Amino acid sequence: MNTMMTIGWDDFVKLSSSQKASVLKADAGQGMFHILLAQQFGRKELDDLGDLATKIRFIAKTDKGAAFLGSLLPQKRVMLYFSQPSTRTFLSFLAASQILGMRIGEVRDASVSSEFKGESREDSVRTFSSYYDCIVMRTEIGGLAERMAWVLSNTDRPVPIINAGSGKDQHPTQALLDIYTLQRSFEKAGGIDGKTVVFVGDLARGRTVRSLSYLLTNYKKVKQVFIAPKQLQIGSDVVEMLKSKKVNFELGSKFSDVIREVDAVYMTRIQDEWDQKKGESACIDISSFNFKTEYLHKMKKSAVIMHPFPRRAEIPTEVDGDERAVYWRQMRNGMWIRTALIASIFGKNKAILDYELKSRK
Ligand code: NCD
Repeated sequence: MNTMMTIGWDDFVKLSSSQKASVLKADAGQGMFHILLAQQFGRKELDDLGDLATKIRFIAKTDKGAAFLGSLLPQKRVMLYFSQPSTRTFLSFLAASQILGMRIGEVRDASVSSEFKGESREDSVRTFSSYYDCIVMRTEIGGLAERMAWVLSNTDRPVPIINAGSGKDQHPTQALLDIYTLQRSFEKAGGIDGKTVVFVGDLARGRTVRSLSYLLTNYKKVKQVFIAPKQLQIGSDVVEMLKSKKVNFELGSKFSDVIREVDAVYMTRIQDEWDQKKGESACIDISSFNFKTEYLHKMKKSAVIMHPFPRRAEIPTEVDGDERAVYWRQMRNGMWIRTALIASIFGKNKAILDYELKSRK
């Protein structure tokens, strides 16, 4: 029995993220359906998705392979519903859907949809589900993707919702591409286990950090360090989660002190769109939280510099040429991991693995 259909919204919303993840997992049976929270992914799912993404990018290199991938989902339509600005997430989902041969619809500006006439988001999303087979949504409202998933699960057309960034809370598919980037970066260096990951910047309002911090708890002996000005330090819910999982972590405010020990630096921008009072963030001195070119000399040779982008002054462009700067690769990884995710949601992972196996013979 589908739990989302038997549990009322008021009860569902009160569950912890891990409990919600269990409900989503049980409802998806052997596969994947709604993708809402980082908590839905354990080590096995992360390994499988990364492996699938790498096989997809290998297959896509030849015309024949690209044609095979494009023949997988031509009968499926995806709606990209982005009511918040986006470049990379939007385009990589678009490209991922194209790779799989899907047809694509988009709404990026609520002012040109019936929301402008006062339609509720719920009615909008139900409308999309009438025409599309999957809804990728980005919204400024925390928890809205969950609500929509619950709403759709209680209709006769429950199509999967993929959370492409919801409010300040979660951005699970960004965390997937971040993990994929770390997997690839440390492929020949023992993998992600045992590494030190340092998050820098606006950690209070950065949803990518929240999701990635959770995903990293799937790895052994990973140390997480959070470097931020006091007002922008990581939230107590993440701290409690790390404590309950007995993760080695530290909170600090001196970036230069940790640069020698990092294996991965995860830079973030100030999320001033969330300011409660206009100009509030501008009063915070963030200059010491920017990556300085001199850090390149202090960092380990094997370390990587990441950023979900968009960037402002956190990383000077001079750093781009250093081989440890992986943020451009990180972006491209996003396209492949999202292709792997959509293929898995629609049960095409086995066909891809079989094709790859055959093409190696
Ligand atoms: C991030 C986001 O939207 O949360 N961007 C992204 O998806 N790559 C980070 C940000 O906007 O700073």
